[in-house]
Amino acid sequence: MAKAHFSRIGFILAAAGAAVGLGNIWKFPYITGIYGGGAFVSIYLITVLLIGFSLLAGEMMVGYKGGKDAVSSFEIVAPKGQKGWKYAGFMLFSGLLIMTFYSVVIGWIFHYIYLSVTNNLPTTMDIADTTFNNLVQISPITSTIWHFLATVFVAVVLMGGIKAGIEKANLILMPLLLLILGGLLIYATNFDGFHKALVFMFEPDWSKINSEAIVRAVGHAFFTLSIGIGTMVTYAGSMSKEQSLFKAAMWVMVLDTLIALIAGVMIYSFIFEYGAEAGKGPGLVFKTLPVILTNMGTTGIVIAIIFFIALAFAGLTSAISLTEPSVEYFIQRFNWSRKKSIIINTSLYFIVGVGAILSYTTAYGSTFSIGDKPLFDAIEFTTDSILLPLGGLAIAIFVGYILSDEDRKEILQDRVNPKVYQVWLFSLRYVAPLAIVFMMLNNFGIIKI
Ligand code: PHE
Repeated sequence: MAKAHFSRIGFILAAAGAAVGLGNIWKFPYITGIYGGGAFVSIYLITVLLIGFSLLAGEMMVGYKGGKDAVSSFEIVAPKGQKGWKYAGFMLFSGLLIMTFYSVVIGWIFHYIYLSVTNNLPTTMDIADTTFNNLVQISPITSTIWHFLATVFVAVVLMGGIKAGIEKANLILMPLLLLILGGLLIYATNFDGFHKALVFMFEPDWSKINSEAIVRAVGHAFFTLSIGIGTMVTYAGSMSKEQSLFKAAMWVMVLDTLIALIAGVMIYSFIFEYGAEAGKGPGLVFKTLPVILTNMGTTGIVIAIIFFIALAFAGLTSAISLTEPSVEYFIQRFNWSRKKSIIINTSLYFIVGVGAILSYTTAYGSTFSIGDKPLFDAIEFTTDSILLPLGGLAIAIFVGYILSDEDRKEILQDRVNPKVYQVWLFSLRYVAPLAIVFMMLNNFGIIKI
């Protein structure tokens, strides 16, 4: 059977669906709050533009030329005598690891959709703490049921393959997501808080920046663009050769950044309109925002419902893209049927995910800890701070140094302006590796500026 390919818009929406996820709507707003707003956003934007884009395009190039799963694509694209580069494709297992906690968080979002629909969202910050703690620390069964539903959704979509599954889901969910977030943003422009949100997000106060903030901004740029785990290699493996790769990468970057900024401005408009605190951390959309919305009456409840649905859409399209690389790998390299590959891969992360859930509970927490970290945090740290940067480094070295100029130009088919090509290559060869090494050394406390 001939391999199915994405349509142009299908590829852009699927890759944007991969990129736009919990990272954009849940994480980006709250880390922006922690690190004080504008200056952090500026560093994030510069990183996305200078480093993120070059790695994103680089990662897509491997799949574009290879046309297979991540491991096979690296093997095919690597020059003779350097086929050992296929092992770089093992970065795809980071996706499964990420899914062990990502699916759990999507489950929490499902729970908040349920709470909004049944009008049971918290009305005060104290109740909000209890509601969230009940879910996360006290009742692992509830979390597990939602985590299971998220897993089943991903499995069902993947069963449809590239065209009828991944492309179709993204063609429906991504426009809806944009519509909902755009609508909420327009609604928020009526608030006085809207102006404050713009100032908070876009007026840099450089005194608030330290090395930790820089490292977090750089790390987030990787995570949000889905770089370094083989997602973009795998998706680009089903890209039509008619499509311009740089243009597609640009669209993905623009959509990803736009949605993060819209989510940030929208959420902070609500926060400032109702005098809530900005720097509260991960509870921003699970605690602070629901309290504001319930106090707005019926309109607020309706907003809560559509907001959490949008958040779930964003999470699910990313979850699909985190799982597909590994599913595809076993199909191509071990001749598994699609069904078998999906069932085994999703079951694997489902089971470890239950461990992650238990690691947050008061009853079993210590049993599921690694060192002094709950399993949940340990996996997040390993993927965020070690595996994703390593994956990014591998891409930078492989595309920047191992491939020759002819190889790169052949893949890009002369569609790129020579000046843009030079800047891109410079960033891939020098800026990206330096930034990654700096970030990793900093994460391990080896250097501090
Ligand atoms: N980019 C996604 C987000 O922002 C997460 C992700 C990472 C998805 C890596 C795929 C690959 O939530």
